[in-house]
Amino acid sequence: MLNLKKIIEALNVTKEYGETGGIFRALKEVSLEINEGEFVGIMGPSGSGKTTLLNIMSTIDKATLGKVQIDGKEITTIKEKEIAKFRRDVIGFVFQDFNLLDNMTIRDNIALPLTLNNVNIDIIIKKIDELSKVMGISPQLDKYPYELSGGQKQRAVICRALINNPKVIFADEPTGALDSKLSSEVLDCFKRVNKEFETTIIMVTHDAFAASYCSRIMFLKDGKINGRLDSNGNKKELYKKILNMLTVMGGTGDELL
Ligand SMILES: Nc1ncnc2c1ncn2[C@@H]1O[C@H](COP(=O)(O)OP(=O)(O)O)[C@@H](O)[C@H]1O
Ligand SMILES: [Mg+2]
Repeated sequence: MLNLKKIIEALNVTKEYGETGGIFRALKEVSLEINEGEFVGIMGPSGSGKTTLLNIMSTIDKATLGKVQIDGKEITTIKEKEIAKFRRDVIGFVFQDFNLLDNMTIRDNIALPLTLNNVNIDIIIKKIDELSKVMGISPQLDKYPYELSGGQKQRAVICRALINNPKVIFADEPTGALDSKLSSEVLDCFKRVNKEFETTIIMVTHDAFAASYCSRIMFLKDGKINGRLDSNGNKKELYKKILNMLTVMGGTGDELL
């Protein structure tokens, strides 16, 4: 909580899609700062710019105007070659649809980022052992993705995202394909990662329950930041505040799908 080193700094980020004449402004001068160790949720109606903002903060997409720093590095001007290395070293990704390779065991899927990096096999084995225990998927390591539940698959994806010891994990609707029980499992894992490894997590979600796990929530509307909530550690209280906020912003949680 007292660690106030900035890990993400976005300044006046604007994103335009389309050509001259048909320009659509998906983000309008969005500024935000995220400190190391935070678990930040990004909420807002469908089309409000959540994914666009996450993609720009995570180097997947480029801002039309504005600046973004990750871990003190300006990424809006960084070279393509450097970006690939930066992504491998600093960032982990978790998406809604798992992205596990079907013809590889869970162990090999998790190891993939390290084998691509030519890391020593003993180090890989040790690291996977440690992470799979934290994520509760040790018994699943030698199975194939189709043999796992959605929650187990997503926890394997979190292991894979963590294997390079990233400073930040970016997650876009990580519980979007899961029922509420499996969502809780995955969210508990995120919380554990955030606490035990002090990994910063930035999670886009339309789900108030998922967002209630966060330490802070930013609300987007029409490409602008429209509100903010901070957790006092009480999930139930935060959940209620989120529902209130969504109502004030003009919609119940269900309409945000
Ligand atoms: N590649 C694109 N080309 C044109 N418009 C896009 C593109 N990606 C997103 N948009 C538009 O930008 C707005 C924000 O999209 P997005 O960031 O995906 O919203 P969210 O994740 O909040 O649902 C939407 O109106 C969407 O249609
Ligand atoms: Mg989206």
